[in-house]
Amino acid sequence: MDKQKLSVVASAIVSHAKGVLAADESSPTIKKRLDSIDVESTEPTRRRYREILFTTEGIEQEIGGVILFDETIRQSTLDGVPFARLLADRGIVPGIKVDRGARALACYPDEKVTEGLDGLRDRLVEYRELGAGFAKWRAVIQIDERDVPSPFGIRANAYALARYAALCQEEGLVPIVEPEVLMDGGHDIERCEAVTARVLEAVFAELDAHRVLFEGMLLKPNMVIAGKNCPHQNSPEEIAEATIRCLSRYVPAAVPGIVFLSGGQKAEEATANLNAMNKMGRHPWEVSFSYGRALQAPVLAAWKGQESNMAAAQQALKKRARLNGLAREGKYSP
Ligand code: 13P
Repeated sequence: MDKQKLSVVASAIVSHAKGVLAADESSPTIKKRLDSIDVESTEPTRRRYREILFTTEGIEQEIGGVILFDETIRQSTLDGVPFARLLADRGIVPGIKVDRGARALACYPDEKVTEGLDGLRDRLVEYRELGAGFAKWRAVIQIDERDVPSPFGIRANAYALARYAALCQEEGLVPIVEPEVLMDGGHDIERCEAVTARVLEAVFAELDAHRVLFEGMLLKPNMVIAGKNCPHQNSPEEIAEATIRCLSRYVPAAVPGIVFLSGGQKAEEATANLNAMNKMGRHPWEVSFSYGRALQAPVLAAWKGQESNMAAAQQALKKRARLNGLAREGKYSP
């Protein structure tokens, strides 16, 4: 394992106030996004949409990595430049989603476990040859009744994340480890903090047992935040305090960066919450973003599938990237 290279790549992705653009929607998910603007999801429309994202001028100032889906890493610009090369030439590390989605966890109703370990080593070799420098695997934890998630559900997901991360590092790819505690439901911020704490504790215990190099990975957690249907929603300062307290207890300082998912927060909320965390002062790790919807929702709304809106769509992406870049330094004001 080339430890030096892994830690250089992991740190580069979050260097100089940069973060990650998550553009790795699976085929069913990108269909949902395109449906929302009345664009049919076909290979050419998906390719064109991703081309608009990746050719936006200036995003390399705030975007250090882009996560791609299997179809996307095999696609090219209209001029024939593979997307992975286009990004790398701009100083952006191309990454790849390698999990195969969350499925029902047998004998544990209401809980899920992420699949995709079988054959993963061979797929990682291929993705590395296609130009990927990092990978992503998402575990999904739903908060439901008092006993959901169960300790076993958490452990099963932590184990799969750690198996994935160890395989990635052996093959020279930086793993982004994503245990997502969902915002769905009516739970309050205290319950989210308690569940996130158990999840992070389990994930780092498994990563350690699997001999994963903390310096050569990135963590992509949820923010500690009340459920969408909770009547009491907290301020960015309260969310920042709970999130940093929870991460400080369970995430080793050797991890170079935390790159939050947006998880259904509005674009402005995700930026304001990240800003509040960075305003608290310096943390042991870079505190950054790996947003999907919070970077792309305004782009889709501006584009609407029309070529004549391309410039507006790219401006929308540049704007969100710039504002999240400011939030990385605690300098964003709404
Ligand atoms: P959201 O920011 O839309 O939650 O997506 C991030 C992601 O990559 C989920 O796996």
